Amino acid sequence: MTQQPADDAIATLLKEERRFEPPVSFAEQAHVSLREEYDKLYRESLDAPEAFWKREAQELVFRKPWRTTLAWQPPHAQWFVGAELNVTESCLDRHLRGPRKNKAALVWESEPGETRTWTYAQLHRETVRLTRALAKLGVQKGDRVAIYMGMVPEAVVAMLATARLGAVHTVVFGGFAPDALRDRIHDCQAKVLITQDGAYRRGTVVPLKDMVDRALAQHEARSVENVVVFRRIGPDGCRIAMQPGRDHEWDALMSEADRLPGGGAVAVDAEHPLFILYTSGSTGRPKGVLHTSAGYLVGVHVTSKYVFDLRDEDVYWCTADIGWVTGHSYIVYGPLSNGATCLLYEGAPNFPDWGRFWRVVEKHGVTILYTAPTAIRAFMRQGSDWPQKSDLSSLRLLGTVGEPINPEAWVWYHHFVGGDRCPIVDTWWQTETGSIMLTTLPGAAFAKPGATGLPFFGVEVAVVDDQGADVAPGSGGKLVVRRPWPAMLRTVWGDDARYREQYWSTIPGAYFTGDGARRDADGYHWVVGRIDDVLNVAGHRLGTAEIESALVSHPAVAEAAAVGRADELKGQALVVFVTIKGNHHPSAELAETLAQHVGEQLGKFARPDQIRFAEALPKTRSGKIMRRLLKDVAAGRETSGDLSTLEDFGVIASLRADE
Ligand code: PRX
Repeated sequence: MTQQPADDAIATLLKEERRFEPPVSFAEQAHVSLREEYDKLYRESLDAPEAFWKREAQELVFRKPWRTTLAWQPPHAQWFVGAELNVTESCLDRHLRGPRKNKAALVWESEPGETRTWTYAQLHRETVRLTRALAKLGVQKGDRVAIYMGMVPEAVVAMLATARLGAVHTVVFGGFAPDALRDRIHDCQAKVLITQDGAYRRGTVVPLKDMVDRALAQHEARSVENVVVFRRIGPDGCRIAMQPGRDHEWDALMSEADRLPGGGAVAVDAEHPLFILYTSGSTGRPKGVLHTSAGYLVGVHVTSKYVFDLRDEDVYWCTADIGWVTGHSYIVYGPLSNGATCLLYEGAPNFPDWGRFWRVVEKHGVTILYTAPTAIRAFMRQGSDWPQKSDLSSLRLLGTVGEPINPEAWVWYHHFVGGDRCPIVDTWWQTETGSIMLTTLPGAAFAKPGATGLPFFGVEVAVVDDQGADVAPGSGGKLVVRRPWPAMLRTVWGDDARYREQYWSTIPGAYFTGDGARRDADGYHWVVGRIDDVLNVAGHRLGTAEIESALVSHPAVAEAAAVGRADELKGQALVVFVTIKGNHHPSAELAETLAQHVGEQLGKFARPDQIRFAEALPKTRSGKIMRRLLKDVAAGRETSGDLSTLEDFGVIASLRADE
């Protein structure tokens, strides 16, 4: 019943006002305060990119300037050709020369509640120490370093130290299972792995080092020569086995590093790889999305500055995990290159209760909060009492990312978290795009709940039909990008054919995002979600093929098909249809075993929400599973369309009977 006033307020707001203008007080001091100013800069970014990027990148540190802004040989782009740099000099060293030296770079709130603050000088010092330690372990420019950690400042140090050597990091989200870690290590042939004993999650300890041991025991992961272990928990809470010769204590390496020379930043070419981040695609094998140095840095720097309107006095909190692209771009590289103070929170949003986020905002005086619609919906479901218990008046800007936000959740966020005074930036982008592509600049344009807004500088998007022609305003189509942008992925690691095929072959001459969208008469983009074989469950990207191959690796499963179903809380829920082998029988226990199996193969976050057994899966004559039909069944809708190509008409009936 406590929900009632909140529901009424939201209903009124939704009815009254669907456009939210930036408050005058916000716009007055924003980096971009007028729509005309945004329009002018946007035009310049497309018409005179050389001048635009030169000016916008001038704060960043380059050892050697670039000769050419863009060399474009479709589908391969090179940005800032001829430049040399090390991204960590922009994120750390440059701040040591001025008043930011002793400013907080990272403010860490642990799940149990301790706080640690790292100034730019301290973050630099720790990074230099680890750089030396990694060099001692033989890491060299171009080598791959895997990072499998929780949300601790040392994870940021691990990324920065790797980059400082010109080595390439691949951060694997701590929620991934050992087999998923093994596959990623194998694909990029990582030489060193940096991890921690365990990580706190909702009051329990996730045994990361144990999982590493399980991954490394498999011969596919034999490229790893050295493992660095940070003791987050300590032997009382987390017992681990250290393998002599392979495993090294973080603290011991760091102390030793104090006596070593080096630690300077290695200058690399603009297009030198910075990181590989694996993401789900339409096959069972995750793609290693490759980002390089200068373009990525410029992209995340400029978007952080304008979209989050960053200024020195802000306390900025992005709640994403460092293992996803949002953590890379908007916890580490973007904010640090702007000299921002970033809050890093270790634990779960609802630990020990649903008031934790809001107490963190109050305790640290957070001014900018960037989170996911799934989290907002979960908070909304718990009622508005929770945010109201804390003083949220420090907040001045809110953001969302990762999935479409429903207008109700948007308005709730605006009202109960933002106190009706904070603009909301709904930012659309992807692991592949590296930086934010669509949003409203918070001081320059009104927001519409549910719409991501306008293209960022340098971004030319279109909504098109299958032939690549623009559809009329208001009509749905495929979302594409028509020209290269600085932070775009360069290729799929070790598989350029897949890069071409996946992104550049669906629509002639354009990058296909995999998303469906429409553009309204105001030029605002409404992204409806994936139209390929990728699901977005609670903001986590899952490939249907990955789920299916995890399922068929279980001895009871003959065939599997994974589809999404609309879900009020998670955006999409994961429903799988399985046919089982003759000697097994459908049962609730088997469903649970299979769900657990997927969790063990991929990670708990990929566990199906529902498992349904079928006699056979509906297929076309050429043997393709009819997913559209299964989606309908999963959604409880009537099947639609032409079924004449069905191999087995009885299948539909048996799926129905199963309901
Ligand atoms: O479908 C879009 C959705 O998330 C996909 C990208 O997922 P990932 O690479 O994991 O990166 C997530 C964080 C950048 C997109 O193809 N998506 C992301 N942001 C939005 C969104 N859908 C709607 N609105 C958004 N703001």
